[in-house]
Amino acid sequence: MKVFAFSYRDFDEAPHFTEISKELGIELGISREKPTIDNIRLAEGYDALSVLTTPVDAAMMDELADMGIKMVSTRTVGYEHVDLEAARRHGIHVSNGSYPPNSVADYAIMLMLMATRKIKHIMARGDMHDFTLEGNLGRDFSSFTVGIVGTGRIGATVIKHLTGFGVKILAYDPYPNPELDRYATYATLDEIWRECDLISFHVPLLDSTYHLVNAESLAKMKDGVVLVNTARGGVIDSDALIDALASGKVGAAGLDVVENEFNMYYYDLKNEPFLHKQLATLKSFPNVIVTPHMAFYTDDDVRGMVSTSLHSIKLELTGQDNPWRVL
Ligand code: COI
Repeated sequence: MKVFAFSYRDFDEAPHFTEISKELGIELGISREKPTIDNIRLAEGYDALSVLTTPVDAAMMDELADMGIKMVSTRTVGYEHVDLEAARRHGIHVSNGSYPPNSVADYAIMLMLMATRKIKHIMARGDMHDFTLEGNLGRDFSSFTVGIVGTGRIGATVIKHLTGFGVKILAYDPYPNPELDRYATYATLDEIWRECDLISFHVPLLDSTYHLVNAESLAKMKDGVVLVNTARGGVIDSDALIDALASGKVGAAGLDVVENEFNMYYYDLKNEPFLHKQLATLKSFPNVIVTPHMAFYTDDDVRGMVSTSLHSIKLELTGQDNPWRVL
């Protein structure tokens, strides 16, 4: 079986690719570039593709079908960058990845604490040897009602890990998990908007979650609400968030993701003009912490991404049950 991995990284993924492909008897082809319509033919002669976060669109799917590629496996949990409709048309299987939820869950909790305690401001001032107190007053996180939107593996882990902080937890998910009843109370989104001091998002990007945070939902939230997003940028309408930060409606935010990040994050753009106007504005707020989609980035999770991608291809293409099958 032959797998072609695009966006292959030497500095962290390589040892896992080498070890796991050997273990599974997979012949590996690699490109350090993301797949594009111009380089997709590099995968000619292979059975399946392993990709990361960049689009695999309808035109690329046409090429893949023409080359006889049977499967596209994204090493990520989210798969909104893969054109499922086009894949279905060509009978190309699609799978996503999975990895232990602790890294993202703990990163979200870190952003909750950092945002609540004004760490960006404190550190920036400290760097300039301004060691004064005024303007750095934080809030008592343990007294918060925290809203967790999305209680899949990551949201559920956030809830369990939060219990040590003594916060009251409200949760929302269209498919509630009864195991969480001992830690959190399921509520409607409107109740979450109205009652929570901090809201953290752990949902995939779907039509139903696109711009879940918008001018209307923001208006329902508590004054000074803290928002944390480690899920997908599209869950929050950036312009509405900017307005709400400017008016003080939102007191602070911790954003590991932002709308339209995928041609920006993970590239070195320091010598380029910075053209993401929404991100430039968000970064300019002292009470907004922005990180470049790093919540997943731990040794365990990188191994998990490579491992689940290769295992899912092996299972699918040998006719076995594939727990990571999307299509
Ligand atoms: C995912 O796995 O879906 C992530 O969010 C991490 C990825 C962007 C590298």
